[in-house]
Amino acid sequence: MKAVIAGVTGAVGSAIARELARDNTVPHPPTGQPEAAAIPLDGIAKRPRQRPPLASSGGWAVAGLSRNPPKRPIAGVEYVRTDLADTDRCRRALDGHGDATHLFYCARATHREQTLEDAATNLALLDNVLSAAERGPLRHVHLVQGGKVYGVHVGPFPTPAREDDPRAPIENFNYDQEDLLRRRSEGRPWTWSASRPNTLLHFSPAIARNLVSSLGAYAAICRELGCALDFPGPEGAYRSLTQVTSIELLARAAAWMATEPECANQAFNVTNGDVFRWCRLWPRIAEAFGMACGSVRPLRLAAAMQGREAVWERVRERYGLAPRSLAEVANWGYLDATLERTWDEILSTAKARSFGFHDWADSEERLLALIGEYRAAKILP
Ligand SMILES: NC(=O)c1ccc[n+]([C@@H]2O[C@H](COP(=O)([O-])OP(=O)(O)OC[C@H]3O[C@@H](n4cnc5c(N)ncnc54)[C@H](OP(=O)(O)O)[C@@H]3O)[C@@H](O)[C@H]2O)c1
Repeated sequence: MKAVIAGVTGAVGSAIARELARDNTVPHPPTGQPEAAAIPLDGIAKRPRQRPPLASSGGWAVAGLSRNPPKRPIAGVEYVRTDLADTDRCRRALDGHGDATHLFYCARATHREQTLEDAATNLALLDNVLSAAERGPLRHVHLVQGGKVYGVHVGPFPTPAREDDPRAPIENFNYDQEDLLRRRSEGRPWTWSASRPNTLLHFSPAIARNLVSSLGAYAAICRELGCALDFPGPEGAYRSLTQVTSIELLARAAAWMATEPECANQAFNVTNGDVFRWCRLWPRIAEAFGMACGSVRPLRLAAAMQGREAVWERVRERYGLAPRSLAEVANWGYLDATLERTWDEILSTAKARSFGFHDWADSEERLLALIGEYRAAKILP
């Protein structure tokens, strides 16, 4: 099997690349034999489950597409630079990978935070790479979508959201891309699947658009200024129920969907399976940074953190951190958008479970463990 990952250097693309390339080196139990339960060292607990049958029968060759080279290349991945917006370059990039059987689509057109992501541009990127991949023995296309399918970013929505819920009447590139796959796959030799994670938890030192590193930079700046750790979103966001997705879990789910025949032509929500409230977790985050937990103090961090580079430099020097600017560690607009939702964000995982995917993770523990990982990497104090 050969996987082509479009958007391989992004948060999701690199996680899927790591999962598939790892499959080449980790010995698998014979097909049909469940894995032993793993100790959740990383806060992600695995229940015994069947390995995807294809993955266990031979592993993956992995090629990845992006415009820029990877900052942290993953062993076992062949990186190919191309612009998915350019039809000819896209075809040429895949000329050397005409044996690709699976396309994992994780690209995302560059966009500004808290603006509408352009549907036509995003649709064209998928269309181009799909047309190029279809010339070979393509068997499956996996599309990574997100909670935005349910309008989690717009306002309250029916919860727990289920995969067959009616769409929200909003412009949404996720809808256009899914419709393209539904239409195009008819009568063709390939099937499709789609994963719908919510806000992602991940360790990605090269990507500032990250909940954990942005939160950690905010905490470090507040501590340096002698402030308590206030919650910068509104009261409703502090108290509502929310859900996140550990990126390793998403990657495993994507590999499962792409290789489990019953998942063909289906979409699945993928979250950690638990829920949490920031008001419960916030004091634990304050404790992790050795600072007092403050109160709810709504701020627009994109504005409030302007000009804080000098404070960050002081933090860096004091704690001997890696030479990373504040802009490389924190994305304030993203943090604002994540912490401003006053409504419950819950996606039902019943469908994936009923189809056989049982992985789950403890979100609070995972987030705290990730703070530890950023610290160990000397990115956060
Ligand atoms: N991040 C989250 O918290 C989150 C949560 C839920 C769902 N999702 C969904 O997951 C999917 C992937 O998101 P992400 O956050 O992983 O994206 P991301 O980190 O922004 O990565 C985007 C990837 O696409 C590549 N790319 C963009 N334009 C390209 C072009 N014209 N040609 C070739 N490559 C191009 C980028 O590389 P270059 O810039 O080098 O080209 C990068 O590898 C999206 O559908 C998103 O909605 C994300």
